[in-house]
Amino acid sequence: MDKRPLGVFDSGLGGLSAVKAILKYLPQEDIVYFGDTGRVPYGTRSEKAIELYAKEDIAFLEKFNCKLIMAACGTVSSVAKNAVASVKEPFVEVVSPACAAAVKATKNKRIGVMGTSATINSGSYVKKIKQLDPEIEVVGVSCPMLVSLVENNWIDSNDIIAIEMVKRYVKPLTDKKVDTIILGCTHFPHLSPVIKKVVGETVTLIDTGYEAVMRAKTVLQENGLLNEPGHKGESSYYISDRTQNFSETAKTLLGEDISDKANFIDINKFEKELTSKGYE
Ligand code: DGL
Repeated sequence: MDKRPLGVFDSGLGGLSAVKAILKYLPQEDIVYFGDTGRVPYGTRSEKAIELYAKEDIAFLEKFNCKLIMAACGTVSSVAKNAVASVKEPFVEVVSPACAAAVKATKNKRIGVMGTSATINSGSYVKKIKQLDPEIEVVGVSCPMLVSLVENNWIDSNDIIAIEMVKRYVKPLTDKKVDTIILGCTHFPHLSPVIKKVVGETVTLIDTGYEAVMRAKTVLQENGLLNEPGHKGESSYYISDRTQNFSETAKTLLGEDISDKANFIDINKFEKELTSKGYE
């Protein structure tokens, strides 16, 4: 039994797809969520910037004495190798659990991956899938503009702009007749209804946030770290900028109004702290 919170972070609000799954499947757990709304998107930035941001995000969450840290961000999971390796707590990222689920789901051994530019360029999902099954063909597409759609709450399945954008991005995947698509960025599960409408019901969509939460559940169970059953988990939310559409978007993504619970923090201050500890 361990009452400490789970620390979850993302570049912005996309990681709320993981929070939603925690609220449903691990309701007894307390959560501290950090969304770097002041610096989103990460997926178009250099490796150096992503490493630095991830280190700061982790340093912030470590202040809460978390029992597990989750990078609910495909970009951090794919690119920020050093930051991720330095985490002292049990750690869950989103790439491996999603790949395992996709390999299990595919029947025709053709998997598509939608991700940010940094994620797709890193080849993280391709490498992991090939390790699990070298015969699987993997096609990746960078979909950077879908991140803005989600951050701006343009996710309705009838939204013509969202539909056209998704159509254009998924063409290489539908051309290859993939039967499974990994939504390799935690922003994208929020667009599942639009993506389903475009690719059809027969294609399996893998939600990275959900799969990471299932992995976290196993880690907690195996290490005796679950909270008391019956405890009603509490969540606190931290953001690095109260963007104009924050409340409305967070409400749609989470199905809950968190505007009163969202606290602003100056994430840049953690850069100074890390520099004083000798990080570059
Ligand atoms: N939600 C993040 C991911 O999973 C990042 C999107 C972005 O910041 O570009 O990749």
